[in-house]
Amino acid sequence: MAQEEFVRAEQSPKPCLMLIGAGGQLGYDCKEIFSPAFAVKSFTSADLDLTHPEAAAAAVLKLSPQIIINAAAHTKVDACESEVERARLINAQAPQRLAEAAKVCGALLVQISTDYVFVGDRALPQGYSESDPVAPVSVYGRSKLEGEEAVAASGCDYLIVRTAWLYGINGHNFLKTMLRLVLAEPQSERKVVADQFGCLTWSRRLAQQLLSLVESGKRGLYHAVGEGSASWFQVASHFLDLMEVEHHLVPCTTAAYPTPARRPANSILLNHKLKDDNLLLMRPWAEDLELFVSLYRDQLLKEVMSA
Ligand SMILES: NC(=O)c1ccc[n+]([C@@H]2O[C@H](COP(=O)([O-])OP(=O)(O)OC[C@H]3O[C@@H](n4cnc5c(N)ncnc54)[C@H](OP(=O)(O)O)[C@@H]3O)[C@@H](O)[C@H]2O)c1
Repeated sequence: MAQEEFVRAEQSPKPCLMLIGAGGQLGYDCKEIFSPAFAVKSFTSADLDLTHPEAAAAAVLKLSPQIIINAAAHTKVDACESEVERARLINAQAPQRLAEAAKVCGALLVQISTDYVFVGDRALPQGYSESDPVAPVSVYGRSKLEGEEAVAASGCDYLIVRTAWLYGINGHNFLKTMLRLVLAEPQSERKVVADQFGCLTWSRRLAQQLLSLVESGKRGLYHAVGEGSASWFQVASHFLDLMEVEHHLVPCTTAAYPTPARRPANSILLNHKLKDDNLLLMRPWAEDLELFVSLYRDQLLKEVMSA
């Protein structure tokens, strides 16, 4: 590169990325992973409340970013059952308005969706690929599917990325909950559901996968999850073994642990399109969990014990 071109390239501003849901697990990791290449403008629910979809659209038009990542959602699956309107506003209507605004300003919208769009009645160990029919069984799943459909119908440039069973260092997740419970009462037996199977996914790995997808120029619907599958019981046991904390987990059935929302028994996702497009960065779930614990064991213990 000639000296003059080099100076110009160095001075050219980074493309603007509007990150919605920046305070969540995935949002936190996206900020770190995308910051070297993009000027990331972060929005938490305090900055931008998606229960007001029109305001979300107005914020997009005002910023006019090149890329929008919507990592925000009403993710409390059980609460959604009794908060149907709120779930629809945040998970369906806000993405619709974001997509319409993205179209106006020519931005790419990256919309994050879920394994819970599937009914989950497939025989194990079969999983679901991007071309399989959807049939959600919960308010959360239906609202997220409605969001997907609105984005796809909007005519904007989009990536819809379905993920599952997320954990990360920032925010709340199943692993931290299990750690808190067993540390509080190390001798007690803990029942953990052993007949729901899915794909544990590290939010940091997913953020890296999102960056590579964005940079690839590919568009459309993708699954992006940790490779392989396990039950909640298997995931919790492996995590607590890696953490080297005493635990007495006992497998139980979904029927023995009733929750307000119905969950798919098998929500295993297959990373088919990422593989077909030679873009797969996702790693086997146990390998990522081992790396996560090796990086964050002390931090996790400190966080959970001070809570
Ligand atoms: N967690 C999972 O196991 C899982 C599984 C499959 C798919 N997904 C999808 O993956 C994405 C990221 O999930 P995550 O686990 O990172 O979520 P998370 O940690 O629960 O974070 C969700 C974010 O959404 C924001 N939010 C909630 N209500 C909002 C509102 N009214 N206005 C604006 N922001 C609002 C929250 O902001 P505040 O913190 O400021 O309230 C939070 O930062 C979501 O689309 C989710 O549906 C997650």
